[in-house]
Amino acid sequence: MEHHPIGVFDSGFGGLTVLREIESALPHHDFLYLGDNARAPYGNRSFEVVHAYTLEAVAWLLELGCPLVILACNTASAKVLRTIQQRDLPRLAPGARVLGVIRPVTETVGALTRSGHIGVLATAGTVASDSYRIEILKHFPQVTVVQQECPMWVPLVENREADGEGADFFVRRDLGRLFARDPLVDTLVLGCTHYPLLEEKIRAHLPAGVRLVSQGRIVARSLTDYLERHPEIAGRCSRSGRRTFYTSENPVVFDPAAALFYGRPVRSRHICLPNRQGYDRKH
Ligand code: DGL
Repeated sequence: MEHHPIGVFDSGFGGLTVLREIESALPHHDFLYLGDNARAPYGNRSFEVVHAYTLEAVAWLLELGCPLVILACNTASAKVLRTIQQRDLPRLAPGARVLGVIRPVTETVGALTRSGHIGVLATAGTVASDSYRIEILKHFPQVTVVQQECPMWVPLVENREADGEGADFFVRRDLGRLFARDPLVDTLVLGCTHYPLLEEKIRAHLPAGVRLVSQGRIVARSLTDYLERHPEIAGRCSRSGRRTFYTSENPVVFDPAAALFYGRPVRSRHICLPNRQGYDRKH
């Protein structure tokens, strides 16, 4: 049987915060990361565009043989995971699996709240999809879920302003909006891959006693559990501790910023998603 890496896809850099947690739970597995930085951010895009872009990326990862692809992007998971699982995957690679990052969080978060009020911070696209609320209520029908879009948080992180005063302004403002709508929230989900980089600021402006839920760690635990329960997929995953990075941007642009999200140096290769042509590093 051939063995291949687990594919990890994100619109850009953010999925590296998820990969970081996944690989510390599964250090021996191989991972192939793909960031569609040339077309990011996905956060405000329509279903049709997020679907088309995500599908191109997933199809490429499946063609490379990945037995499992993680959509390490909340926007893609929220908007198009189900369509890809139900409509596209059976045609592209019926034996492979595509999983998202929302479900593992929604399965567990209801057990963490005491007040029964959960807040979700996310991009406009994720909030508009209502996925977090719908999924949490499926597992915990008695809780109240309030969602807040934070459209400036991704650009703040991407422009390396996560430590700046601008970040204080927007974090305070958006948390203020959420708690004004529901002061009883005691459990807050960071429903976007970029938000862990704002964690310090978020904690600084958070009312006392509110718990922040780290998505990466929950996804890592859930993936470990998934592989134990699905030996037919786990048995097809290669395990030599290798990480490979691809970006649809120029690697010279990707690598320095990627290192901030990943916490370690990154050396990526280029891939143009529509035509699958890559170029050597362009300086
Ligand atoms: N990765 C996206 C998410 O988790 C954030 C960046 C984007 O909008 O593309 O929602």
